[in-house]
Amino acid sequence: MDQDIATILFSEDEILKGIDRVAAEVTTAYRDQDFTVVSVLKGSCIFASDLIRRIPIPLELAFVSASSYGDGTESQGLAVNYLPADGEIEGRNLLLVDDILDTGRTLHQLSGELIRRGARDVKACAFLDKPSRRAVPFHADFSCFEVEDLFVVGYGLDYAGRYRNLPFVGALRPELYSSDEDSTEPAAASAD
Ligand code: XMP
Repeated sequence: MDQDIATILFSEDEILKGIDRVAAEVTTAYRDQDFTVVSVLKGSCIFASDLIRRIPIPLELAFVSASSYGDGTESQGLAVNYLPADGEIEGRNLLLVDDILDTGRTLHQLSGELIRRGARDVKACAFLDKPSRRAVPFHADFSCFEVEDLFVVGYGLDYAGRYRNLPFVGALRPELYSSDEDSTEPAAASAD
């Protein structure tokens, strides 16, 4: 797998330092409130598991799953595949945790859905933030690192289901996902 990586952007050590910082911010924000970390499957599972073990206050854990659909070149929308049970949403303070905030569609839509289903408050925590790609206005309350407009894999992030198990975050070699030299994204990046 390593030969498919053009550049390592964040090493394992750098990742853990970024998570330490965000875990401290989350701990401060929720010190006096019950809250539930809602991990967006599949990409955020590694980040969420490292993050929650660095938050020394009570929390609950839940999962949500969504996938994008479209014409193969650009996402047209998002299908929510799985949500926490109503009792895990209604009246709760939720912290949505995702691997990357890219166009913003995933977290924007999931936040709206959780609020519609009765969540008391929804905040968002993204491991990576790619602000240059934002298509809908969305701001993460917490994020570990900003990345430029490169397709990144590792530490939970995949391309075609692979590379999630890399312990670092790297930029995938563009020739592996595109014949168009100007493209910075694969033809169809799924939202999981
Ligand atoms: P949006 O555009 O909804 O994207 O903010 C969120 C989801 O899109 C996937 N995504 C990526 N996955 N490398 C990846 O492995 C990337 O550079 C990338 N950009 C977007 C990801 O699943 C994320 O949850």
